Amino acid sequence: MIHIKDNIFHLNTQNTSYIFAVTEHGDLQHLYYGDKISEQTDYNAFFEKRSMLLVSALYPENDIAYGIDAMQFEYSAFGGGDRRENACTINCGEALCTFTFVGYTLLSQPPARPDFAQAHSGDGCLCVLLRDEHTETELRLYYQHFEKCDVITRYAEIKANKNAVGVDSLMSMQLDLPMGKYKCITFDGAWARERFKHEQKLTAGKFVCDSQSGASGAWHNPFVMLAEKNADNFSGESYGFNLIYSGNHREVFEVSPYGGIRVLSGISPKGFRFNLLKNDTFFTPEAVLTYSKNGYNGVSHNMHDFVKRNILPKQWAFKQKPVLLNSWESVYFDITEEKLCELADRAAEIGAEMLVIDDGWFGKRNDDTSSLGDWQENREKFPGGIKSVTDYVHKKGLKLGIWVEPEMISRKSNLFELHPDWALGSENGRKILGRSQYILDLSRSEIQDFLIKTVCSVIKESGADYVKWDFNRMFSDFTSVETPIYEVQHSYICGLYRILSEITSKNPNVLFELCASGGARFDLGMLCFMPIGWVSDNTDVLSRALIQEGTSYGYPISVMCNHISAVPNHQTKRITTLEARSGVASFGVLGLQYDLTKLPKEELNYLKYCIAEYKRMRLFITDGCFYRLTDGFEENFTAWQLVSADKNTSYVILFQKLFFPVSQLPKLKLFGLSSDVAYTVDITGLKVSGEVLMKHGLLPLQNYQGNEQSINGHSLTDFSAVFYQLKALEEEK
Ligand code: DGJ
Repeated sequence: MIHIKDNIFHLNTQNTSYIFAVTEHGDLQHLYYGDKISEQTDYNAFFEKRSMLLVSALYPENDIAYGIDAMQFEYSAFGGGDRRENACTINCGEALCTFTFVGYTLLSQPPARPDFAQAHSGDGCLCVLLRDEHTETELRLYYQHFEKCDVITRYAEIKANKNAVGVDSLMSMQLDLPMGKYKCITFDGAWARERFKHEQKLTAGKFVCDSQSGASGAWHNPFVMLAEKNADNFSGESYGFNLIYSGNHREVFEVSPYGGIRVLSGISPKGFRFNLLKNDTFFTPEAVLTYSKNGYNGVSHNMHDFVKRNILPKQWAFKQKPVLLNSWESVYFDITEEKLCELADRAAEIGAEMLVIDDGWFGKRNDDTSSLGDWQENREKFPGGIKSVTDYVHKKGLKLGIWVEPEMISRKSNLFELHPDWALGSENGRKILGRSQYILDLSRSEIQDFLIKTVCSVIKESGADYVKWDFNRMFSDFTSVETPIYEVQHSYICGLYRILSEITSKNPNVLFELCASGGARFDLGMLCFMPIGWVSDNTDVLSRALIQEGTSYGYPISVMCNHISAVPNHQTKRITTLEARSGVASFGVLGLQYDLTKLPKEELNYLKYCIAEYKRMRLFITDGCFYRLTDGFEENFTAWQLVSADKNTSYVILFQKLFFPVSQLPKLKLFGLSSDVAYTVDITGLKVSGEVLMKHGLLPLQNYQGNEQSINGHSLTDFSAVFYQLKALEEEK
């Protein structure tokens, strides 16, 4: 619902309100974002009483108390007297543009932005128009509201009307909140350590996440949170922000010297400048904002809901995904038709539903130094072609997936011999290699067309049901033979979205998995086209628990691909229990990457059992509710809960980091159950009411025998997990 009165704009969702107003000087002043407030409210209470002059604050003529650098603004321009970090810097040669309010429109649909990944339309769209009076440059701020998910999205558009202008920065959103004790929560890391959660107390100055990877990157995810000092998973006012974008991004949290906090999110201005000629426009990507008074889990639920309903391709969002066996850690580059068929036999025996042919099937690709760009199957490894493996697995009732890394070109490849100028980086200058490869210049439409054609023909010729789309090096060179250097990175992302949009709409029944050196491009932009993503190359269960948990703050578990793999683990050499590996991996889209042909019978049988159990749990993963019951490995444990949409079934995992003799397992307070229903807890055999499980908690009932810690025969060691299944006893309702 959008309510507008006397130039006060009041956007409501089911549980939240977002309010701003036009000031007497034509600025947009932010008034409120938080728990829902009725439209009949007295708005006077939201305006700061500006009788006091702030020493050294800046003000417009004849209004000494206006305090430009202390006010809460909706969107502030550099050069307008606001000394905090600004939302835009628009240069028109001799001056900088500043914007004042002109008017607004309510739209049933936001304007089409064909270059962009974007949310499906919300429940209403407000467009506020501002203008720089000297150059007539127009700034439009768009707001969409998504009632059920408690989400507001925002983006900006700039239009050069009279003069050419340079866009040096244009953020997607700015949020100024009043003085308070805040902390910011970000999700950062590197390869094999993606999205570890970090909390920072915000006291003074700025905290900035800035990605210069050309992709959203593993160093910083665009999903960030702001919360009151004492907030945690279960309580406290918390805000979540994300960006529907896959390129360089920047999130800023700035504490104003006068109190108050500013949050900005958008494309990173570093290495960015767009020159607009008369009548040109530039749009930012869309930012996603949510608020919950119920702590981090509240924010996550809103985000999960929003992603499932409004980001993921409609035909896949609520569909169950196949359990797959991936060839990567099973055989790496030692991949042949014969070996794959053997793997498919074992996969079928244990109940897996798809075989994915990972890297190494094309060109002369026997290691990672060559052949990207030469997307023809290697006939020495595949005498019958990929199609013959597809036919083989299809006959067994399995599906077939194939790996590609289309955005890249190997230094050693026929494509590079033919088109050296297709790689980003100047011909005469230095071209930096990453994994022996360069990045193709996707800002050029000729190269976009080539990739659309190439990937569609790989899909057609292989008969694949599934594509794993990888991206294994980050940006370093920005020189294109066609595109101005400061436009390259953003134009690349727009080019990528055009490619993905064409390929996925031409192949609506093919399931796409996003991947980038593990999870280095795990973002809402990619998820608009690919409904699932490889979370990390790290499959060690201890690391994985932290990576999956970090990812779960902003993204639903139904989009996270997790694999059970061998021990000692290939990334950490850690040995962990199969029960823990399968339990943690089951909170998402389950797969395996494991040479099944080398496993003993008992292990295969146990995997068969895990897959069968997972298939029961899978029914609840896309539309169920996920809760974090702990935070990281606080006090040695991490625990998660999944509750089915009808609240009749719930799964809980309790993961123990290290075993200490005669130590206590924690009692877990559960969430989202029906208070008046009794549940059976499978491994303890108890019947407990939902009310008791939520108010008192689930007792683990552990046994000790000598030095062995166990729960009804499930032994707990270092890096081990216990898995509970709760079922409602319908008759006791
Ligand atoms: C990186 C991915 O994350 C891995 O899963 C695997 O596909 C390799 N690339 C293949 O080169």
